[in-house]
Amino acid sequence: MTRFEELVQKRRSHRTFTQEMIDAEDVKTILRAALMSPTSKGNRSWQFVVVDDKLLIEKLSDAKDMGGQFLKNAPLAIVVLGNPSVNDCWVEDCSIAAVSMQYQAEQLGLGSCWAQMRNRGLSDGTSADEVIRGILDIPEELSVLCVIGVGHKASERKLQDEEALRWENVHVNVF
Ligand SMILES: Cc1cc2nc3c(=O)[nH]c(=O)nc-3n(C[C@H](O)[C@H](O)[C@H](O)COP(=O)(O)O)c2cc1C
Repeated sequence: MTRFEELVQKRRSHRTFTQEMIDAEDVKTILRAALMSPTSKGNRSWQFVVVDDKLLIEKLSDAKDMGGQFLKNAPLAIVVLGNPSVNDCWVEDCSIAAVSMQYQAEQLGLGSCWAQMRNRGLSDGTSADEVIRGILDIPEELSVLCVIGVGHKASERKLQDEEALRWENVHVNVF
């Protein structure tokens, strides 16, 4: 098993994938990581929509003008949703779940990338949230944070550069 120290260095955003589908067990393992992630007050109010239908994924990739197109190449898209009316930390909880899935995907040898949807949308003023709500029939009380595209990596990426880490952003005791 990959050590966490290696995993954090190896994880990079992957936006190109082969067309190979993801093993059902791997999909379950990725969702398991989300469901085990920490939440404010332990409220676990996130919801996830696992999308493997090519047509639906294509529609999701067009939910905003820029930055979501890579989803078209992904065999799997996981839509991460929170409920702002019951959870003032829904953004934090959903973010932690999303990134937990990204690390789990990496540990399985899969690539992933986050497509931001909250506060994003189309140039005509339609929010990505509204578009996705229409595509996936999402209940009114839920909001979309992001969509995580997952797939078999089309190519490897460089490890994170140990020398480029911003240690100057870390302060000890006082800023
Ligand atoms: C909150 C957040 C939003 C992001 N939104 C997008 C996005 O909409 N489209 C995209 O291609 N990448 C997106 N990314 C991926 C970042 O561009 C990527 O993590 C960053 O460039 C660092 O590269 P790395 O992940 O390879 O280390 C997002 C990442 C985060 C954490």
